Amino acid sequence: MDAFEIHGGRRLSGRWRIGGAKNSALPLMAASLLTDEPVVLSDVPNLVDITNMSALLGTLGCHVEHDTQDPDQTLTIEVTDPSQYLAEYDIVRRMRASICVLGPLLARRGRARVSMPGGCNIGDRPVDLHIRGMRALGAEVNLEEGYIVAHATHLRGARVFLGGPFGSTVLGTANVMCAATLAQGTTVIESAACEPEIADLATLLNQMGARVSGAGTPRVVVDGVERLAGTRYTIMPDRIEAGTYIMASAITNGSIELENCPMDALSALLDRLEAIGVDVEPVQSDGQAPVDDRFRQTVRVASKRRLEPVQVVTQPYPGFPTDLQAQIMALLCQADGNSLITEKIFPDRFLHVAELLRMGANLIRLGPSVLISGSRQLSAAPVMASDLRASAGLVLAGLAAQGTTLVNRVYHLDRGYDRMELALQKLGADIQRVDRPAV
Ligand code: EPZ
Repeated sequence: MDAFEIHGGRRLSGRWRIGGAKNSALPLMAASLLTDEPVVLSDVPNLVDITNMSALLGTLGCHVEHDTQDPDQTLTIEVTDPSQYLAEYDIVRRMRASICVLGPLLARRGRARVSMPGGCNIGDRPVDLHIRGMRALGAEVNLEEGYIVAHATHLRGARVFLGGPFGSTVLGTANVMCAATLAQGTTVIESAACEPEIADLATLLNQMGARVSGAGTPRVVVDGVERLAGTRYTIMPDRIEAGTYIMASAITNGSIELENCPMDALSALLDRLEAIGVDVEPVQSDGQAPVDDRFRQTVRVASKRRLEPVQVVTQPYPGFPTDLQAQIMALLCQADGNSLITEKIFPDRFLHVAELLRMGANLIRLGPSVLISGSRQLSAAPVMASDLRASAGLVLAGLAAQGTTLVNRVYHLDRGYDRMELALQKLGADIQRVDRPAV
């Protein structure tokens, strides 16, 4: 089984290009179910989750081609059999994002049978808000033998409130937005998720002929239309990948440059990094003026040798992203003082704490928070990856630790990072993908 062997202590340097966003690509792929014409997405990363979504769409009567050798990494989806509507458990259990086919299937095919995603290592993954949204649009939705069974002769516009105990729902907003594009009348989504990936989806939908406004704000308005057409679209850069590599540089006191960096989508992270003592500044790319598109900038990362402790609270966008919580925890193990991280989206998203403790970190779990007593030199150890972003945090810790760290089960990483070891090698890390006995 693949593992990463990391010889820590090397300062990162060099340049890497950030790829397309996994969490944009997945709902945008699902949106292709809304039309019978080809949808061509560019800058789609070569990830296990993308492969899983392609396989799911294949079972839903779509022809999917992903040209990962093409620099544009173009992925083309065309519906060939619109009679399919089953998203079976075996695929959904591997990728909870499969739930985002629910809205498009209901809108275009009038029915859907989608497996309940079940829990995962970052906590429960309820879908009550998704179901609330579909019912509000007029669908009949029941839970049968672990499946969401939904049908609607036609959907009608409605007012939908998507606020839950942990804020809004990103993929729930995507589902309702997609379903509403073909509903009769106007839909108003209150307490919609404001993540940039939602705005990216709305831009694609509007290019297909939909009439979506307010995406990226808590109130999204969708005027239903008769049909949607195919289109070509380049997805936004991956803000979580960018944040991960920015912190990889910082934890090694390195200095790197990142291309295609979505600075406008990273404000909460940049705010914390500034307080910690990490600077991220746009640079002139090959003598050109800094790129005006603050969603696709080339930036340079530099950090002070002494890192300051801070408080971090994860919140819905534009708050600090939960998907960067494990990574900043690893970074704060190097800060000179006590930091506090509070996880408000997935309160149990702390499986990386036990592994960081094995590396000599000084952490105390206090319910939804973790107290980090920094400035301990991390020491290398064999550690176990448990979920996508926890794994990334362990890799960052391994980059800083003295000695050789073995991160097992990197298949978690391959879900969300395209060849992470190659990126880090290009940035000067001593990291290899090795085959180790399954643990
Ligand atoms: C998206 O998941 C992301 N995945 C997650 O990234 C990310 O952590 C999450 O948003 C939060 O930002 C994709 O976009 C593919 P939610 P999603 O519905 O949409 C609760 C990664 O590492 N909730 O916004 O499934 C839920 O339990 C992944 O790339 C309900 O209560 O998350 C959570 O506490 C991991 N009822 C909170 O809302 C519902 O019906 C936010 O969940 C739905 C969610």
